[in-house]
Amino acid sequence: MSAATTTVITNIGQFVSLDPAEPERPIRTGAALVIADGRVAWVGDTVDAPAADTRIDAEGAAVIPGFVDSHNHLVFAGDRVDEFEARMAGRSYTAGGIRTTVAATRAASDDELRVRLRHLVAQAHAQGTTTLEIKSGYGLTVDDEARSLRLAREVTPETTFLGAHVVPAEFADDRETYVDLVGGDMLAACAPHARFIDVFIDSGAFTVDEARRVLLAGRDAGLELRVHAGQLAPDGGVALAVELGAASVDHCTFLTDDDVELLAASARAGDGTVATLLPLVEFSTNQPYPDARRLLDAGVAVALASDCNPGSNFSSSMPLAVALAVRELGMTPLQALTAATRGGARALRRTDAGHLGVGARGDAVILDAPDYRHLASRPGVPLVRRVLVSGEPDV
Ligand code: NIG
Ligand code: FE
Repeated sequence: MSAATTTVITNIGQFVSLDPAEPERPIRTGAALVIADGRVAWVGDTVDAPAADTRIDAEGAAVIPGFVDSHNHLVFAGDRVDEFEARMAGRSYTAGGIRTTVAATRAASDDELRVRLRHLVAQAHAQGTTTLEIKSGYGLTVDDEARSLRLAREVTPETTFLGAHVVPAEFADDRETYVDLVGGDMLAACAPHARFIDVFIDSGAFTVDEARRVLLAGRDAGLELRVHAGQLAPDGGVALAVELGAASVDHCTFLTDDDVELLAASARAGDGTVATLLPLVEFSTNQPYPDARRLLDAGVAVALASDCNPGSNFSSSMPLAVALAVRELGMTPLQALTAATRGGARALRRTDAGHLGVGARGDAVILDAPDYRHLASRPGVPLVRRVLVSGEPDV
């Protein structure tokens, strides 16, 4: 059964609409919001609010757009908390741990993977995430990658084929053949279930040349492009992402001045490549944080995402990502919230999410706070009171 067709939220103490049509007015007070048939239909003052099937009194709380978390790896089995403890004791993160999860994921049944995936999605939702990108990348055979994407598609349309996550153990001595497989039979089996294709560029994963081959094959198969680059060192991945018109290049912790200029030029040109920062990864790998201020000052389009995965970061908390962005990356609270909502939508090339302007999807979060800046000043406190997806309130 679908819920009521119209919902009105009244007495919004602070309404952070981030409406791109009103760039000079990202925030208003004393507002009300009507969502009809899943879309924002009206924004105005509470005193003028029309009647609706469902009426929610925000009682002076802040209302923000739902978070758009544009980078996640949620289809997996197994546990790697031992690696986290070792890192906190001084061990470095390496891509090699991915193979541990690959073995556990291959051994799991569809239902085991589905139950875990849905639980992780529910946790993200409870923290205010209303749009979620999910990658494959822990199957690394034709059948296991296709299965991961079929399961991911059950919970989100924003699915990404990441057969090029690492070279699996059985191809360790023949990576050429594996790269051909990813861009050949594996891509053919996965493309029907994926919107994007992604490659992990890293000294422990794939080179820029290998990534180019895989991404071009994906583009020929009709997929849009995303890239992991610059997590542990500058690696040429940003230049490749911009050259190929990728929607997003993610991590961007280690960048050259040329990388920053390429990203800025791409943003100036319009629908360019977004730099997606993942500060929960630096938190969980004991690495230096990326410099968001350098990117914003240069005019780069910036997104924030969680990168929830079993290895480099197992937190799906977008509120904590916002807090870290303000505390460690040099963003203002408004820049951080914008990057976690509209920025994520831009990284997914969506204009109907990440803001609450008229016509957008009715994905809204009522905070347990009068001001959105509490997300940054009160890390770890459960400030998400209520989440609406397409205007449908949780029970
Ligand atoms: O985005 N960088 C590649 N993939 C993940 C890590 C995956 C893992 O360690 O299992 C990331 O950080
Ligand atoms: Fe990742």
